[in-house]
Amino acid sequence: MRQWPDDRVAFGGDYNPEQWPREVWADDLRLMEAAGVSFVTLGVFSWSWLEPSKGEYVFDWLDEVMDRLGEHGIAVDLATATATPPPWLSAAYPEILPVDREGRTLWPGSRQAWCPSSPVYRDLALALTDRMAERYHEHPALAMWHVSNEYACHNLPCYCDTCAEAFRRWLERRYATLDALNEAWGTAFWSQRYTDWADVLPPRITTTFGNPTHELDYHRFGSDTLLDFFLAEKEVIRRHSPDVPVTTNFMTLSGFRLLDYHDWAPHQDVVSTDHYVVDALPHPRAELSFHGDLTRGLAGGAPWMLMEHSTSAVNWQPVNPAKRPGDTLLDSLTHVARGADTLGFFQWRQSRAGSEKFHSALVPHAGEDSDRFREVCALGAVAGRLGEVVGSRVEAEVALLWDYEAEWAVAGPCMPSAALDYVTAAHTVHRLLRDRGVTCDVVHPDADLSGYRVVVVPTLYLVSDEAAASVAAAAEAGAHVVVTYFSGIADPDDHVRLGGYPGAFRELLGVRVEELFPLRVGETVALEGGGHGTVWSEDARTAGAEVLQSYADGPLAGRPAVTRRAVGPGAAWYLGTLPDDATLGRLLDRIVAEAGITPVAAVPTGVEVTRRRSATGSWLFVLNHTDDDCTLQVTGHDLVAGADVGPVTTVPARTAAVVREA
Ligand code: GLA
Ligand code: ZN
Repeated sequence: MRQWPDDRVAFGGDYNPEQWPREVWADDLRLMEAAGVSFVTLGVFSWSWLEPSKGEYVFDWLDEVMDRLGEHGIAVDLATATATPPPWLSAAYPEILPVDREGRTLWPGSRQAWCPSSPVYRDLALALTDRMAERYHEHPALAMWHVSNEYACHNLPCYCDTCAEAFRRWLERRYATLDALNEAWGTAFWSQRYTDWADVLPPRITTTFGNPTHELDYHRFGSDTLLDFFLAEKEVIRRHSPDVPVTTNFMTLSGFRLLDYHDWAPHQDVVSTDHYVVDALPHPRAELSFHGDLTRGLAGGAPWMLMEHSTSAVNWQPVNPAKRPGDTLLDSLTHVARGADTLGFFQWRQSRAGSEKFHSALVPHAGEDSDRFREVCALGAVAGRLGEVVGSRVEAEVALLWDYEAEWAVAGPCMPSAALDYVTAAHTVHRLLRDRGVTCDVVHPDADLSGYRVVVVPTLYLVSDEAAASVAAAAEAGAHVVVTYFSGIADPDDHVRLGGYPGAFRELLGVRVEELFPLRVGETVALEGGGHGTVWSEDARTAGAEVLQSYADGPLAGRPAVTRRAVGPGAAWYLGTLPDDATLGRLLDRIVAEAGITPVAAVPTGVEVTRRRSATGSWLFVLNHTDDDCTLQVTGHDLVAGADVGPVTTVPARTAAVVREA
């Protein structure tokens, strides 16, 4: 086995040589060397090549690829190849095919067409994993195991009969008795009381709205089921290969709400994830930064791997714009700025055929004589110079709470507003803090909050008593806690906390809300003192808090919109609405100042800054997303340019600096 490359930021991506004739393989190695590729992920979709018929294994081609990569000093992140079964398998075992909410079978012909609960699929996948681990565990190129690929991406939730049976067993373990299940699901409502476990079904298509706790539990069940599958594959690998790190690539980009990665992360030897810039988002690059902070939170603050991103366009959006010059460097270094020590791409060579032929790659259709490939080579060289950053940690004084269960619940049926998106408040506060040079750790509500000067609680609709107590304790210990609208409403069974919203945070905030007033799409409400609220409003009365801003018009005119309650040396701030950026920005300026936080560096808006630190030094990341050069005060050595800089340093438009601070 090989050590994962740590003398540089590991640079490479998914390598699919089975898509190409053998002549191309030698050229691949030559170009990988030119680009500074130090790792590849191999075999993700190779099952039909490795096992062309049941029990017939063909490893010679993979042996050859592994050997050659090893000779060239390229580390291999070897996939178990279990992400997508070959056609013969689905034909022989059609019972593995997933079924959608409406009862339609999802047929083979794309990828990941397997039911997460299928024991048949699991046995066949574990058999392949066993052969892979047995064959390659001592290979000198092997540096990491890559289990499956983006679990849940296409096959969750599955509503088939096998899942129905597995769901019942999962519920029996969770609730033990039907009385407990009935209580948790609130089945007194609409004659839903169960008297036999066998009557419980997946939340399939119904006449009208389903039971929200049933839906919520189906999310939990799906995440647990696939985690169990991952652990089974990991266990098989471990039997042969006890020392090589094992990971599976998450999908932490926003909007992918199928797995509870807080449950998954502790089982990864190193947390890895994929991220693609979603062009249709209002602030795609701010979302990229958020994703990095979230992934670092999942990794418990440790460095993580960016397994996949793209050099330019993807192929799965309605319109797929190419990246502008500079974007690839800026996007890549944003991940590193937020804790990534690996820069992986999908994929090495752009496909000639198949549904991803127009997805960008490290080697484009145009070939090596292209600006894109020259840019890739330049990025590979930068990754090589960033070796000293590897292992260091990102500094943050703000915690922002993130919970997949709350996200699932908010997206459930029959909420006060279908237009309410769990991520909106979190992304907005994070983006405005990023604009101010303030870094957030995005962490689970159960995380240790001591040590943070500010704790942001955005739309934490569903929260446990313990997490609510931990937030209150943070304020009492001196933190500034910022709770936004529609937080603390429900308990983990999605039962409303009575006596006035936001039940779990009422006392902490000194605010009692009698009724929710969601705003219509595009509707705003004026705030006294200037600015306006968007998305949401709440009929709040203070009970010990100071009113900072009230509503100036609409049905809640005169009622508090933003409040502050002193709590020991800290404070609890409440936002019943989402103010416009300028108004919220001013409030965050005040909170940051009161909390005693100094921004990472003084830079103009549009220039993103973070700091990584280790026992041996600190590195200032300056990402200039603007079309103007920017200057700032910093002295040291810029690893991107490979030059000493300071005391006044200029970072040219649409490029980046990583300065080892003197
Ligand atoms: C995912 C998959 C890759 C590829 C990319 C395209 O991340 O893991 O195989 O399909 O999407 O963006
Ligand atoms: Zn199923």
